[in-house]
Amino acid sequence: MIIKRPDSIKASEITDETNYQNRREFLSTVSRSTLALAAGASFPVLLGSRRTDAAPALGNIQKSRYALDEEKTPIEDITRYNNFYEFSTDKEGPALLARKFKTDPWTLRIEGEVNKPATYQLEDFIKPYTLEERVYRLRCVEAWSMVIPWVGFAFADVLKKVEPTSRAKFVEFTTLYDPRQMPGQQRRVLEWPYVEGLRIDEAAHPLTILAVGLYGKLLPNQNGAPLRLVVPWKYGFKNIKSIVRIRFTEKQPGTTWNIAGPQEYGFYANVNPTVDHPRWSQARERRIGDFFKRETLMFNGYADEVAGLYSGMDLRKYY
Ligand code: MTE
Repeated sequence: MIIKRPDSIKASEITDETNYQNRREFLSTVSRSTLALAAGASFPVLLGSRRTDAAPALGNIQKSRYALDEEKTPIEDITRYNNFYEFSTDKEGPALLARKFKTDPWTLRIEGEVNKPATYQLEDFIKPYTLEERVYRLRCVEAWSMVIPWVGFAFADVLKKVEPTSRAKFVEFTTLYDPRQMPGQQRRVLEWPYVEGLRIDEAAHPLTILAVGLYGKLLPNQNGAPLRLVVPWKYGFKNIKSIVRIRFTEKQPGTTWNIAGPQEYGFYANVNPTVDHPRWSQARERRIGDFFKRETLMFNGYADEVAGLYSGMDLRKYY
């Protein structure tokens, strides 16, 4: 994430992605585990894996009232230009190196300050929730952005089910640690496992979702299969991938990028055009696929919905 400045991203790296020569190969090798998850899964209705374009389709997806009416980033860009340091620090690396990542079976633990701690198989965890398509922006701290039709469910619904105690002030999310499958974890580029956190009211906000798919299909591995967080008003690094543990805490959890570079990556990480990253401006961003940059919007354009969460807070201090 800290490696490339947006200005150093060549247009060819971005725009050529629709023309990947090995796209067919990629499409035919979408992880078997993903297919297996689909086949045995209790996701509402799975429309089968015969489609040749990428992962199995998810059915029974409701349109969300939160969806944006903006031009979506092509799926080729969303699935080819990734940040997933467990696999690679290159943007193109995760699509190749996560191909065989095994996401079935997948165990998720809910623990900490919660009345109903539990260990779930992922299908059982997901079953009670209504899947919605929510078209949200993803704005990376490196000043590029995408518009992604996520498929997921409100984290607020999870809170209702697991019942955090009155002591729970924060939610900590943890990614799988498995260096044999995730070659990036064999190097100390970050402290592993990757950890992220939210204040409990941020987690309870209706815009916060857990995603299991995008473009109507199961999440590709490189995008954080089988379960990832999406918090659309925050920088991309808060959107932790491949979650195995959700823990409720009284104290603010340590988070991976904040530990790696506290001057550069705050706990809150709200998209804020007026607070520069120490090494570059956040005032403008490049939508992947566009040539010209555009102005970055406060809270990534979600100010009406979320600004109230931070009233009275100095957002220069709590960046
Ligand atoms: N989650 C984990 N576990 N590891 C990562 O390296 N990168 C983050 C976030 N979640 C990351 C992660 C960053 S920096 C961004 S911008 C988004 O994932 C990118 O999501 P995408 O590849 O689906 O676009």
